[in-house]
Amino acid sequence: MCGIVGYLGNVEAYPILIDSLKKLEYRGYDSAGIAVWCQGKIEVARHKGKVDELRGACKNGFEGKMGLAHTRWATHGIPSERNAHPHRSQDVVVVHNGIVENYMELKEKLRAEGDTFLSDTDTEVIPHLIKSHMNKGEDFVTAVRSSIDDIAGSFALGIIREEEKTLIAAKKESPLVIGIGDGEYFIASDVPALIGLTNRFIFLEDGDMAVMNEDGIHLTDLEGKGVDRPVQVINWTAAMAEKGGYKHFMLKEIFEQPRAISDTLIGRIREESGRVDFEELELPGISRFKRIWMVACGTSYHACLIGKHMIERNLRLPVEVDIASEFRYRDPLLTTSDMLILVSQSGETADTIAAMKEGKRKGAYTLAVCNVVGSTLARECDGVVFTHAGPEIGVASTKAFTTQVSVLYLLMLHMGQMLEVLDQDTIRQKIGEIKKIPRKIQLALEENENIVELARRYMKYRNFLYLGRGINFPTALEGALKLKEISYIHAEAYAAGEMKHGPIALIDENMPVVFVSPHDQTYQKTCSNVQEVVSRRGNILLCTDHDGHEMREATDTLLHVPGTDYDLQPLVFVVPLQMFAYHIANLLGTDVDQPRNLAKSVTVE
Ligand code: M6R
Repeated sequence: MCGIVGYLGNVEAYPILIDSLKKLEYRGYDSAGIAVWCQGKIEVARHKGKVDELRGACKNGFEGKMGLAHTRWATHGIPSERNAHPHRSQDVVVVHNGIVENYMELKEKLRAEGDTFLSDTDTEVIPHLIKSHMNKGEDFVTAVRSSIDDIAGSFALGIIREEEKTLIAAKKESPLVIGIGDGEYFIASDVPALIGLTNRFIFLEDGDMAVMNEDGIHLTDLEGKGVDRPVQVINWTAAMAEKGGYKHFMLKEIFEQPRAISDTLIGRIREESGRVDFEELELPGISRFKRIWMVACGTSYHACLIGKHMIERNLRLPVEVDIASEFRYRDPLLTTSDMLILVSQSGETADTIAAMKEGKRKGAYTLAVCNVVGSTLARECDGVVFTHAGPEIGVASTKAFTTQVSVLYLLMLHMGQMLEVLDQDTIRQKIGEIKKIPRKIQLALEENENIVELARRYMKYRNFLYLGRGINFPTALEGALKLKEISYIHAEAYAAGEMKHGPIALIDENMPVVFVSPHDQTYQKTCSNVQEVVSRRGNILLCTDHDGHEMREATDTLLHVPGTDYDLQPLVFVVPLQMFAYHIANLLGTDVDQPRNLAKSVTVE
């Protein structure tokens, strides 16, 4: 999992490559490198650390109108300059995102031919293979194709050589997009890297290879047969991919949630007629689906858990939720009468894509809920519904989560109307409730200053417990994940009723307990849990939509949010938890947008 960019055109490549690479840093940031081509020479620089450190190291040179760059998340070989990309063999230079599974075997073969390797990476075999084929008489393009044929595994590749102004890109199971400019071409791991440079994109499919030079672009499959891929226009603006005055992308994205949810609702709901429709989705023969599966990773998995509550409660249709990395290997009992919903911000998470493939193999109907147009899931599922969150740059997911939950709610209403299990009045009333959500989140955001103060009080603790019930157990899971991801504080979430079955042993004055507790049928139960914590000297932070008078005495801190429909509670309750995690991490001085060891989209297993 890494980020790659490339440029071929008429202006200086270096600033374009470095700026675009910076936007890909969320994909990996333990080392970075750049290669710039200038009239028959390729200058390469690599550096351990982030893109800014690479920028600092590239003082002179690097003039030229073609080049490649890479930001790395280490898989094979520790983060170091020698393992940073680009890798080269003589005049051939390569950047790679993916894994060459048979690299050991290839390395041995190439060593036997006399090659020497300078890194511990799997990638380094690729330029050597290309050279090896060229030494046997193949031209550059054919040699790239033959090398790809030699390797097993996944790749998004950018390749250049000194002797010609040609940029080659190829893709299998790792994302790669081509940006089309005016007499210029860009390659990148995703669209946001190229925002502001072009709005016209070609999304390569697995097995595609693109050869770009001053005569144009030639797209083929790996056998060399021409393929046609549409040019798609994506109108994300440069401002969307900038911090806009916020200290971190994460904070900006938390504050964007009212807008992101409004955008996700637009054009899909009609309150007057009580209808919810998706322009991009047709669900053929919906009544044939006897069961729904929802599969995802991380935060997107938490959105699925919420979706299960919504669908089972309202439609009385059974829903199974699974973690993609488990689902893909456990021979799940899927049939042709199942619908498999894959939820993913990026649409590129390797485990979720593998789960989709498993679903297809077993004949299930696959539906992606996804934020990135043109991503693998969006392209390969039978159906897709987009969240309109806009680009999410912070590694910790926030607005992607709330827009996913919003889409799952709309999907539940859409299915309810198609299956005729929800009448128009109910749908109308539920549409009315979600329309109020952006305003309610806005009110929750107004607690920001209070939450900064809370964060100051709580930042000293090293462990937290998060408890919630029903549809808010996943909210608690999400709150705990946010805290651990960005502050590196240990946080554990449990269904509140489970506390007495084990976690209660952990409670003492050093264990703050965050209760997610709306005033619904679960409220009184939570009051009892609060008492159980108080009796053990635990420190309570209560997040509720009620005045909390029953618990006021017992509670150290009350976080108030607006009340809403049961199905929509997580949308409002998660907001203070996101802010709480953010402010603790910010006060502790961690790298909030790029927390250690994490990457935005996990495109390797
Ligand atoms: O792009 P995806 O939604 O498929 O990504 C899934 C997870 O990797 C992601 O949600 C991850 O858990 C985030 N870091 C959560 O903040």
